Amino acid sequence: MGVRHQHLFPILCFLIAALPLARSQDSIYDHLRMYGLPAGILPKGITEFSVEPSNGRFRVKLPQPCNAKFENQVHYDLNVTGTLSPGKVGELSGVLAQDLFLWFPVKDIHVDLPSSGLIYFDVGVVNKQFSLSLFESPRDCAAVDPDDSQPSLRPDDDGVLHPESLFQGNSVAMVR
Ligand SMILES: *[C@@H]1O[C@H](CO)[C@@H](O)[C@H](O)[C@H]1NC(C)=O
Repeated sequence: MGVRHQHLFPILCFLIAALPLARSQDSIYDHLRMYGLPAGILPKGITEFSVEPSNGRFRVKLPQPCNAKFENQVHYDLNVTGTLSPGKVGELSGVLAQDLFLWFPVKDIHVDLPSSGLIYFDVGVVNKQFSLSLFESPRDCAAVDPDDSQPSLRPDDDGVLHPESLFQGNSVAMVR
């Protein structure tokens, strides 16, 4: 009897020690933090997510397309996918950032490691930089009517955002 308990003790210790580790990976926000990314780059209200540990591919599902307000508005589609690597979300799909009244698909989001206190949104043409502190925690995401506020600028079918359409768009925005 006594011998059996001696064997159980280390196992019990291991289980207790492993418990917080298991817990720390149970939300997509924890996965982001594990990669050195702020949790606030994804909004509140995520209903489902998956992360492929081998390559960092992730997929999250929201109840509806929605907008979250940071310094700029950020739009999230129903499905958001991308690839997690240290300090970076790459191959992003389903996230758009508003600038000068236009919406730009965000291709990747990255931070400096070690942190510089800045976060960069790569929208293809430029890197927009924001203060990292804006993205510390997930924001409320307000549902948008998909017909009403469909982002006004999407890349062409070939996936290319043409700079000339950007400039046209900007001058329209300024005339307003
Ligand atoms: C979202 O992803 C699911 C698969 O997980 C797919 O069936 C559905 O069509 C996608 N919805 C949109 C709007 O892309």
